Amino acid sequence: MKSAVGAILAVALAAASYAITLPSGAVYIDPLLYNVVGANYTKWRNSSIVGFNPTNTAPPFIQVFDPSFLDIIGPSATIRAIASNPGFDFAHEAPIYVPDLNVVVFSNTGGGALGYSGWYNNSAVSMINMTEVDAALASTTGNVNIQVQTLHLPDTVQMVNGGTGPYKGDLLFVTSGRALLPPSIVRVNPRPPYNATVLLDNFLGRQFNSFNDVKILPGTDIIFFTDPAYGWFNGFRPEPMLPSQVYRFDPSTGQVRVVADQFAQPNGIAFTPDGKNVYITDTGVFEGFLGANSTRPTTIYKFDVDPRTQSFTNRRVFAFSDSGAPDGIQLDTMGNVYSGCGDGIHVWNTEGTLIGKFYLNSTTPQLTFTKSGLVILKETAMYVINIQAHGMTLST
Ligand SMILES: *[C@@H]1O[C@H](CO)[C@@H](O)[C@H](O)[C@H]1NC(C)=O
Ligand SMILES: *[C@@H]1O[C@H](CO)[C@@H](O)[C@H](O)[C@H]1NC(C)=O
Ligand SMILES: *[C@@H]1O[C@H](CO)[C@@H](O)[C@H](O)[C@H]1NC(C)=O
Ligand SMILES: *[C@@H]1O[C@H](CO)[C@@H](O)[C@H](O)[C@H]1NC(C)=O
Ligand SMILES: *[C@@H]1O[C@H](CO)[C@@H](O)[C@H](O)[C@H]1NC(C)=O
Ligand SMILES: *[C@@H]1O[C@H](CO)[C@@H](O)[C@H](O)[C@H]1NC(C)=O
Ligand SMILES: *[C@@H]1O[C@H](CO)[C@@H](O)[C@H](O)[C@H]1NC(C)=O
Repeated sequence: MKSAVGAILAVALAAASYAITLPSGAVYIDPLLYNVVGANYTKWRNSSIVGFNPTNTAPPFIQVFDPSFLDIIGPSATIRAIASNPGFDFAHEAPIYVPDLNVVVFSNTGGGALGYSGWYNNSAVSMINMTEVDAALASTTGNVNIQVQTLHLPDTVQMVNGGTGPYKGDLLFVTSGRALLPPSIVRVNPRPPYNATVLLDNFLGRQFNSFNDVKILPGTDIIFFTDPAYGWFNGFRPEPMLPSQVYRFDPSTGQVRVVADQFAQPNGIAFTPDGKNVYITDTGVFEGFLGANSTRPTTIYKFDVDPRTQSFTNRRVFAFSDSGAPDGIQLDTMGNVYSGCGDGIHVWNTEGTLIGKFYLNSTTPQLTFTKSGLVILKETAMYVINIQAHGMTLST
């Protein structure tokens, strides 16, 4: 995009950047400069897969759309790779930070290319030691490549796709199931021998579709999870036999019920720290072998959590992502919303204004906060960013 327009934008950008002081490696993108871009930009972004990088800055870098994002990233945020393996989509789903062990546990993709899993093969669950990451990062200014450890879990754990916790000291996973093996909610011991206990694998005798993500309602032990059709779309589960919807499960009574429906494909879930609201991401734009259709949702919906029934009420659009689709979703302690999209992690404030992106120029499905910063799963790589904001508490 080297052009007259580009040159004018660059000058305007330089002028605008006097107003705010950025960490090195961050770029201020004043929305006013891009409200009118002409026909060339339309060609450039004719697909939601292509990211929005109007300054042509080499990724990874931080895009600041609103000065309030500086309070989140702090003065010295840098994006650094901590593990990579170009031949294996090892870092895709279900990141759980375990503070006691200072590790992140996560899984690889179920189905897709480079996932090496499908109808006949389970996906892999791995662990990265953040103490080793911190030591390696302290010894250099660049990227590091820490060996991740594959965990040998019981066969009852098939296609881990979502995770949260620690839940009473355990990893809490939702699985997509595989072939005729059912999707399930499962507690896994984060320490050897990594034994597991399945809490739920059917709805009054009917198999679910393919669980995708899970969270605990703050202040309770109640488990909420999403059940889209990606197991079928990605070729490792039979055709769905239930709507793609969101459920509530009370492990103390065994009761399961639907709390929200009318989605294309409900994916990520995150409650606000006070438990009064919940966000659900809808990745309906992507339907596996049926292809992508950019007229379908890449949308985050916000709901009230009914104080008596815990059903999700008053659905409204919170945000629509301009790139890829919002997959995993996490909140910081101030209620800002972070979601993994097609070009990086997008961050919205509580009003739904896009205030910044951690721009990696590729799909970043998932993220989790750790003591070392925000850890990002980018399929064939993992990154950490030492931002100032802290994640809300997810453990029970
Ligand atoms: C648009 O792109 C064409 C072809 O790449 C180029 O010749 C032209 O200068 C561009 N126009 C503007 C306004 O940048
Ligand atoms: C999108 O733009 C690219 C680059 O100009 C072009 O190669 C591609 O054919 C366009 N795709 C569509 C669907 O218009
Ligand atoms: C399943 O695993 C086998 C043995 O490890 C491997 O040869 C095969 O390529 C895998 N299948 C897929 C779809 O990845
Ligand atoms: C992580 O690495 C540190 C430093 O090598 C080690 O002391 C610790 O036991 C490791 N933790 C786990 C859970 O393996
Ligand atoms: C793992 O095994 C221990 C010892 O039997 C048991 O106390 C614990 O509840 C088990 N954890 C899970 C998640 O199954
Ligand atoms: C995309 O989805 C819309 C709405 O569901 C549908 O009308 C349209 O035919 C689809 N387009 C393609 C190319 O599949
Ligand atoms: C972003 O990724 C696309 C597709 O992988 C690549 O063609 C493009 O050069 C990348 N852009 C930058 C600025 O690195």
